[in-house]
This record gives sequence, C-alpha cells and structure tokens, in this order.
Amino acid sequence: MQAVAILGSRDTEGRTATATEALLEGLRQAGGEVSTVYLTHLDIERCRQCDNNGWGLCRREGRCVIEDDFAKTVAQLRTADAIVFATPVYYGDLSESMRAFTDRLRRISTGPGGKEGLSDKPTVGVCVAGGGGGGAPSCCVSLEKVLRTVGLDVVDLVPVRRQNMLLKGDVLHRTGAWLAAMPSSSGEF
Ligand SMILES: Cc1cc2nc3c(=O)[nH]c(=O)nc-3n(C[C@H](O)[C@H](O)[C@H](O)COP(=O)(O)O)c2cc1C
Repeated sequence: MQAVAILGSRDTEGRTATATEALLEGLRQAGGEVSTVYLTHLDIERCRQCDNNGWGLCRREGRCVIEDDFAKTVAQLRTADAIVFATPVYYGDLSESMRAFTDRLRRISTGPGGKEGLSDKPTVGVCVAGGGGGGAPSCCVSLEKVLRTVGLDVVDLVPVRRQNMLLKGDVLHRTGAWLAAMPSSSGEF
C-alpha cells in the first residue's frame, strides 16, 4: 500500500517530523510505502474566497482557480491508499500551512467530482504540541472536523505533547502498522 504524509511544520527534524516518522516507520515495517510532503516547502496560498458570495470555481467545478502547488498535492492524495495529516499545535489549533491546505481541500470536495479518490480513504491525524503541551486535543478536533467534511475516513487522531513524546512514539509506530494493514475502504471493519 502507498501512503502520503502531509506535514504542516517547517522543521524536517522537529517534533512533528519525529512523531510522524514513528508512524511512518511502523507503516514501512508492515510493508507500506510512503511519500512525505512538507506544506511549508510548497507554494500554497490561502483561499481567495473568489466570488462576492464567498464561493468560486471550487463549488462549480470541484477545483481551485489558484495556480500553485495545491492541485498537484491533491492529485497525490487521490491516488494514495491512505493519508496522514500531521501538524504542530499552534494556539490549540492547526498550523497556518495546514489550515490553508485543508481549507482549500474542503472547498474543492464540495464541488462536482471533488471527493473523487478522497471519499472514505483511511486517514490518520497527528497533532503535536511542543510548548506548555496544551491544545493537542482541541487541534485534533479541528483537524477531524475539516477532514470529515472532505469525506475522508478519519480512522484515528493522535494528540501528542512534548512531555509524552516517548509514549506516543510507541502508539504512533503501532498506528502506522495498523494503517498499513487496513483495506482502502475501512467500511469493511
Ligand atoms: C504560533 C505558535 C503557537 C503555539 N501554540 C502552542 C499551543 O497552543 N500549545 C503548545 O503546547 N505549544 C504551542 N506552540 C509550540 C508548538 O506546538 C511547538 O513548537 C511544536 O512542537 C513545534 O513542532 P515542530 O518541532 O514540528 O515545529 C506554539 C508555537 C507557535 C509557533
């Protein structure tokens, strides 16, 4: 199986990367393959709210008018067997790069064909709090809300704080192996 991990951190050696790597290592050991995307390394604008009523091409055609790295990243998600979204916790919520990407993903998924290759796809969210450690659960709630609107099957959300990184590393490793063994449509479970 082929998974894609989308990360909303700048730091390829930071906490979000470390937590995600634990999950991906479990997934690889179970026979899966993974490609990793750092949103901050890409050119992805926030939504322009194109029309006066707030909608745009997204609702009419299930795609976004902005010509940046968004469409090619979505294409990667559509062909994957499973997706991992990992974000650092900022103010108890998603990072700005993760917010910008998932906001636009939600919009195109409301238009014709927009959910193609995304509906019911097994998806895991990881939210990593590295300051006081608060806000990871509320970040998970935000992430689940937007991903469910996209139509993804959010099979698990893992809140992590720097104080429990070791413990959650084990959980994430096992979560990766579990995800690798999951059928493309988790409705079979
Ligand atoms: C703008 C901003 C807001 C933050 N808000 C929180 C927070 O609400 N709770 C928390 O524990 N840490 C917070 N932090 C710390 C980040 O969660 C921490 O730096 C994170 O682990 C970084 O992940 P990274 O190493 O992948 O960059 C915040 C950091 C920034 C830059």
